[in-house]
Amino acid sequence: MTESTGTADVDGVAAAESGEGVRRRDFINIAAVGAAGVGGVVTLLPLVSQMAPSKDVLAESSTELDVSAIQPGQAVKAVFRKQPVFVRNLTAKEIEEANAVDVGSLRDPQTLAERTKEGHENWLITMGVCTHLGCVPLGAGEGENKGEFGGYFCPCHGSHYDTAARIRKGPAPLNLQVPEYEFTSDTVVKIG
Ligand code: FES
Repeated sequence: MTESTGTADVDGVAAAESGEGVRRRDFINIAAVGAAGVGGVVTLLPLVSQMAPSKDVLAESSTELDVSAIQPGQAVKAVFRKQPVFVRNLTAKEIEEANAVDVGSLRDPQTLAERTKEGHENWLITMGVCTHLGCVPLGAGEGENKGEFGGYFCPCHGSHYDTAARIRKGPAPLNLQVPEYEFTSDTVVKIG
């Protein structure tokens, strides 16, 4: 037993001094570099995932809505990036009223067509945030005050928006903002 172990040790020393031993050292070096490489990947991954938006943020970066149940004359309040959004199905009369306005006379001149999507002009989608100091205007909820121009009314300081959500009276400087959105089908809107 002792003899055979001694033989093995001698063989090991001999191997270390031979080309085989060099190859083994090379392997150990390569393995060490390889491990450092793997370590690099492992430490990079958390950095990359820290830079990428979290699932919560991704979930809020867009909002999808099925608008099929919203009747003409009705509106709903949705939430997009933690802010209210008004989705309103305009009646033919509201569209007519919006189009009858002399755009040049507006504080923030925009046509209804510029504020809606072609083929979906009845869908008025705006942020529900007053452009004065950020209150949530009334008018999207059932029975709420729509203001003097039939759109939205901000009770904080009395801003009135028309049926294209354009500012018509009061201190707000701009129309209600239209967010980025697209119709992904006839009845589904993706906001953001
Ligand atoms: S915040 Fe709406 S009128 Fe001032």
